[in-house]
Amino acid sequence: MSIKKFRPKAHIAPYKGWLNDPNGLCQYKGEYHVFFQAIEDYPKSNLKCWGHYSSKDLVNFNYNNMAIIPTIDLDSSGVYSGSAIECNDVLYLFYTGNYKLEGNYDYINEGRLSSVICVSTTDGRNFSEKKIILEQHEYPEYYSNHVRDPKVYFKDGLYYMILGGRTKDSKGALLYYKSKDCINWSFDKDEIYDDLGYMLECPDVLYVDDKEIFSFSPQGVTKKDEMFRNIFSAGYCINNISLANYIEWDKGYDFYAPQTFKDSKGRNILLGWAGIDDKLCIPQYDNTLEEGWIHCMTTFREITYKNNQLYTFPIEEVLDLANNYIKTDESNLDSFMSKIGVENNSFELLINDAFKLSYKDNLIKLEFIKDSYGREERTLKIDKLDNVFIFNDSSIIEIYFNDGEYVFTTRCFSNESGFKLLKGNVTCLISDVKEYKYK
Ligand code: FRU
Repeated sequence: MSIKKFRPKAHIAPYKGWLNDPNGLCQYKGEYHVFFQAIEDYPKSNLKCWGHYSSKDLVNFNYNNMAIIPTIDLDSSGVYSGSAIECNDVLYLFYTGNYKLEGNYDYINEGRLSSVICVSTTDGRNFSEKKIILEQHEYPEYYSNHVRDPKVYFKDGLYYMILGGRTKDSKGALLYYKSKDCINWSFDKDEIYDDLGYMLECPDVLYVDDKEIFSFSPQGVTKKDEMFRNIFSAGYCINNISLANYIEWDKGYDFYAPQTFKDSKGRNILLGWAGIDDKLCIPQYDNTLEEGWIHCMTTFREITYKNNQLYTFPIEEVLDLANNYIKTDESNLDSFMSKIGVENNSFELLINDAFKLSYKDNLIKLEFIKDSYGREERTLKIDKLDNVFIFNDSSIIEIYFNDGEYVFTTRCFSNESGFKLLKGNVTCLISDVKEYKYK
């Protein structure tokens, strides 16, 4: 019995089939491009391609078929994640070619080839022949077969490509290549980390104010207090990479492999996959297969630097989708935004009759009271809670604390909808949300 449609109104979800990481995020010739890991025929097929949405304003989107599909040996097991950059008016897309040999291999140190492959475009729609940039045998010999997710960025007159890696002795690492023209690349350096797990996926480098930010998704770091509570984490370090400097982008259950880009307004924008490759989570994600799609992105979040950390908050185009705020403690909307003035008062509220958020004595508590799919209660200690912003959109809930000091994303597959303040002296404003339009 499915009463409610789970497709979000204003979050990117695949038109058909599967979605995971955002890829190749950019603004090129005035148009935003959102490529993403896609499998149109999922669950019949498991072969990853690059799906593609484009948009002039981040609220009206075009769905543009698959941008890159496997066509050569080196990407025959999947067109994996990567990035986009403009160089001399041409847009270059760099992706990971995944090639798995048939046989009895561990697919970590043998049986797999990972390469960097590039296609280019001058219209954002038609893509050139594939050009092989780096092959497995060109990486330092102490790397396993897991080297991937090229992100290309520009710094001090040169292009750099950062790749995530796993060494043969299972340490997380980052590899850097450099280029003058985005075509010819040479090895620059690599860095191996003793305490950041066995693999770093989806690295990214961005500049916020005068800070150099390294973002990545480490796998295999042990849970500690409020950190690393998901099977895989996604976070960043400011200026220097170390476990001590590492801050998670999002404290929720469903967040992984984010990517950033800078737009023409100078904003650093973050988009994450509102999902994670955790076997325990799969039964809940499967809830939408009946509707012909699975997984969605978070909303587009603007990144700013404040109080020695990054804040992330929905971009104004997304916030503008809600313009009917009324003061109320209750609503039964499927998709809504809610602004809550907390001023450090304690409160308790319920979303979709399934997910409870409460605050008392500097402790935020998040818990499913039903439809939990095994997810335990999560807490966050905080010095002071001034405000909460909730973006609930059918089957995804994003909660922003103190204008984005902390963010918590979870999928929520409840057949009920809405918002209810259960306890507390706080002011709630709620608005419905206009839909993204697709062509
Ligand atoms: C992260 C990731 C990437 C890889 C892609 C494959 O979720 O594992 O490292 O390129 O997904 O879909």
